[in-house]
Amino acid sequence: MAPSGSRHSAGKFMDLKLAGKVAAVTGASRGLGFAIARSLAEEGAKLAVCARDAAGLEVAAESLRNAGAEVVAVPVDVASPSGATTFVEAAAERFGALHVLVNNVGGNRRGRFEETTDEDWLDVIQLNVLSGLRACRAAVPLMREAGGGSIVFVSSVFGREKGGPGLSIYNATKSALISAAGIMALELAPEGIRVNCVAPGSIRFEGGSWDKRVKADPEGMKAFVAVNLPLGRFGRAREVGDVVAFLASERASLITGACIAVDGAQGKSLV
Ligand SMILES: NC(=O)c1ccc[n+]([C@@H]2O[C@H](COP(=O)([O-])OP(=O)(O)OC[C@H]3O[C@@H](n4cnc5c(N)ncnc54)[C@H](OP(=O)(O)O)[C@@H]3O)[C@@H](O)[C@H]2O)c1
Repeated sequence: MAPSGSRHSAGKFMDLKLAGKVAAVTGASRGLGFAIARSLAEEGAKLAVCARDAAGLEVAAESLRNAGAEVVAVPVDVASPSGATTFVEAAAERFGALHVLVNNVGGNRRGRFEETTDEDWLDVIQLNVLSGLRACRAAVPLMREAGGGSIVFVSSVFGREKGGPGLSIYNATKSALISAAGIMALELAPEGIRVNCVAPGSIRFEGGSWDKRVKADPEGMKAFVAVNLPLGRFGRAREVGDVVAFLASERASLITGACIAVDGAQGKSLV
C-alpha cells in the first residue's frame, strides 16, 4: 500500500506501481539525488540513500521519512573500492530485496586537457564511472532474484554532446556511462532488468553549483540563461527526480538502453 503522503493515494494520478519497491539512490543527501529519492518516496518506494557526510545524510533521510517513506541511510564513499558494494548490500539487508538502483553520484574536475593529470582522470573515473558500475555488479544478482529491475545512471547533457573547453574529464566520463548503460541494457534485457540514463541540463537548487555561480555573477548567468536555456530558466531538481521515478517504474517497461534528455532543449544533439 502506498504511504499516506504518496501522490496517488487519492487514486487520481497515474500509478507508477512503485509502492513497496526497494530503491537505492547514491548521493542522495542533497541536489538531484535527494530530489530523485523524494520523487521515489512519494510514489511509495522504500529507500536506501547514501552520501559521505553522515549528518547531512541523516537530515535528508528524516525528511524522506516525514514524507512517509521507509528509509535506510548509509554513510559511505562510493568512490572507494568497496563503497558502492557496501551500499547496495546494506539496502538489500535492510529491505530483503532490490528493485531500483539510481547511480547519481558524480562530479567534475575542470581544466584544460593539457593541464589534467592521470590522477585527475583516475579520481573522476572512480567517482563518475566505477562507483556506478560497482553498484550495478552488486545490484544485478539482487534484481535477478526479484524477477527484474531498473537501473538509472545520471549522466549529463555534456555526456551526449561536447560541453566546451575545460570539460574533457567530465564529458568523457559522462559519455562512458551512456555507452556502458547501452550495452548493459542489451545484456540484461532477457532478465527483465532495464538500464537507462538521464542527461540533465543545467539544474539550479539552493547551494548547488549553478546556484553558487548565479550568486557570484548574476549578470553573467543571466546572459548564460538567455543564450543556452531555451525555457529562459534553469532546470529544477524535482524535474529530474520525476523523470527518474518514471524510468524506475514498470510504466517505462519499453524504455531500456535509452538516454533521456532532461534539459529543456539545452542540448543540441540529434540522438
Ligand atoms: N546540477 C546540475 O546542473 C547537473 C547537471 C547535469 C548532471 N548532473 C549530475 O547529477 C549528479 C548530481 O549532481 P548534483 O549537482 O546534485 O551534485 P551535488 O550537489 O554535488 O550533490 C552530490 C551528492 O552526492 C554525494 N556524494 C558526493 N560524492 C560522493 C561519494 N564519493 N560517495 C557518496 N556520496 C557522494 C553528496 O554528499 P556528500 O558530499 O556528503 O558525500 C551529495 O549528496 C552528478 O552526477 C552530476 O554530474 C548535475
